[in-house]
Amino acid sequence: MLKIIFATHNKNKLKEVQSMFPEQAKIVGLEEVGCFEEIPETGNTLQANALEKARHVHRNYSQNCFADDTGLEIDALGGKPGVFSARYAGADKNSLDNMHKVLREMHSQPSRKARFRTVIALILDGEEMLFEGVSEGEIIPEMRGAEGFGYDPIFIPEGYNQTYAEMPLEEKNKISHRYKAIKMFADYLMSLNYY
Ligand code: IMP
Repeated sequence: MLKIIFATHNKNKLKEVQSMFPEQAKIVGLEEVGCFEEIPETGNTLQANALEKARHVHRNYSQNCFADDTGLEIDALGGKPGVFSARYAGADKNSLDNMHKVLREMHSQPSRKARFRTVIALILDGEEMLFEGVSEGEIIPEMRGAEGFGYDPIFIPEGYNQTYAEMPLEEKNKISHRYKAIKMFADYLMSLNYY
């Protein structure tokens, strides 16, 4: 069975991603290789961050591995918060603060178009590959829903009238940016006859 390390300390994210993979692939967290340190994330793009995290794990633990990075890109804000999505309102702030900042900046803004973008960097047998998944949608003027995490309460994906936070998690996970990136990754493994 193909075993790949997912370079995240976030247990919820690990579970979510495991559930998106065919069961022939064994996706394990960093504890599996005894990695408990903070993984550096200093890049200016999603690609750079995903690669930096995957390279750190590959260099230090010599295992097949992948890392992801996600950003919310809002057209009216010139693509912000983008790569700074996690700390948009400041390093010591949380998702609620980040959403409040976005809603303030989007106040009375007629153009609401936005997208989530996930980039995955894979290092498999020493070879680097990037995969990308995008979920188009719009920012609404107030928060709705209690599911999900991050910016989910203010984002409605294209073709829906519920925010990600109003959908059951299984529904979001069938259409999300992360799912699309993982699907490309899983299809790539399939094309190489890994399973
Ligand atoms: P990360 O790259 O997964 O750490 O994501 C960076 C930031 O983007 C997180 O802190 C979240 O605020 C936000 N984010 C990532 N994925 C999602 C999502 O699926 N829904 C809403 N917000 C997300």
